[in-house]
Amino acid sequence: MTILKIARMGHPVLARRADPVPDPTAPEIRALARDMIETMIDANGAGLAAPQVHVPLRLVVFQAPGERTDPGLSEAERFDHTAPLTILANPVIEILDEIREAGWEGCLSVPGLRGLVERPAHIRYSGTDLDGNAVTRIAKGFHARVVQHECDHLDGVLYPQRMGDLTRLIFESEVRHHLQPQD
Ligand code: NI
Repeated sequence: MTILKIARMGHPVLARRADPVPDPTAPEIRALARDMIETMIDANGAGLAAPQVHVPLRLVVFQAPGERTDPGLSEAERFDHTAPLTILANPVIEILDEIREAGWEGCLSVPGLRGLVERPAHIRYSGTDLDGNAVTRIAKGFHARVVQHECDHLDGVLYPQRMGDLTRLIFESEVRHHLQPQD
């Protein structure tokens, strides 16, 4: 396995629309996904899209661990808010309702910064795993956010482009000034 070099904002590979993965079961896709997971974990990210490692294919890896969810949620509610480590080829997102939530995001391709991004809070997504099986899940909360963030990378979109208020684009070191509830 290999830790891959991560493309940073401004590299053209992050701005183009990525191509479909022709065969998600191909050994080279499995090898790429393994390296992406190793790279994501090494960089302490929640997700990574293939264009971020200079490969313009529609492949994402992500996880939404339980500790990122709101502690006030019931066990049943928590289900849609979490996802195990997931590899998905050719993902598609469907927005399930109009409710949007603001949340702080970071990106391994935009190092050192955080931005407050409003996104749909309730989605369904589907795609293909590396055994060729169709995967469909409902996602809410951080889970919905990370999937939308990673899939945006496949369309050449970085989170600052989703921000309505650029006064909320800040350095990581200043996050402590912004942790009060938004009004
Ligand atoms: Ni990102």
